[in-house]
Amino acid sequence: MPSLPEDFRYIAGHLDQDQQEALLADIRQIVRAAPLYTPTMPKTGKPMRVRMTNCGVLGWVTDKERGYRYQALHPVTGKPWPSMPERLISLWRELADYPHDPEACLVNFYGPEAKLGLHQDRDEEDFDAPVLSVSLGDACRFRIGGTDRSDSTASLRLNSGDIVLLAGKSRLAHHGVDRIYPGTSTLLKNGGRINLTLRRVTRPV
Ligand code: SIN
Ligand code: FE2
Repeated sequence: MPSLPEDFRYIAGHLDQDQQEALLADIRQIVRAAPLYTPTMPKTGKPMRVRMTNCGVLGWVTDKERGYRYQALHPVTGKPWPSMPERLISLWRELADYPHDPEACLVNFYGPEAKLGLHQDRDEEDFDAPVLSVSLGDACRFRIGGTDRSDSTASLRLNSGDIVLLAGKSRLAHHGVDRIYPGTSTLLKNGGRINLTLRRVTRPV
């Protein structure tokens, strides 16, 4: 199997059951204020298979007309995103090895059939900060490659409570979610997978 990219960090089982449940309670509150919606791809307007929302001062969005970007308001409700839970800020401070707090947390919800194509996270101004990703609920097959799209890729199974970081030389590594393994977790009553990605968007002055 091809090896994982340099500086990519995979922390299996970082969150125990209680921590996962507490984080899920935070996310439920966020989703109540800022409902999950179906984003669309730039230019084609094709709906994504993952539903999304955000918390933090900025949120990542995409639509047909204006493409990938960060903005301060939920595109459907027009309201500011809910603030980032303290628990997530602490996790960032513990693991990110970066001196400024995150500004955005993208909340992805994957139903049993959802997947996410291979892509880079490159809509941020500051690539010195890592992308910190938390998995909750059903497991998935995560694919990680290199900075070039044609680089070889490796697959790993991400389980509820696992954390990965795209940091350093792996910050712009291509990655995606090939499939969900339905029924592999009881954390979410109705199944599915939640992924949280914490990002620093602007370059600190
Ligand atoms: C993402 O790349 O935005 C999400 C990755 C994941 O769901 O693990
Ligand atoms: Fe991503």
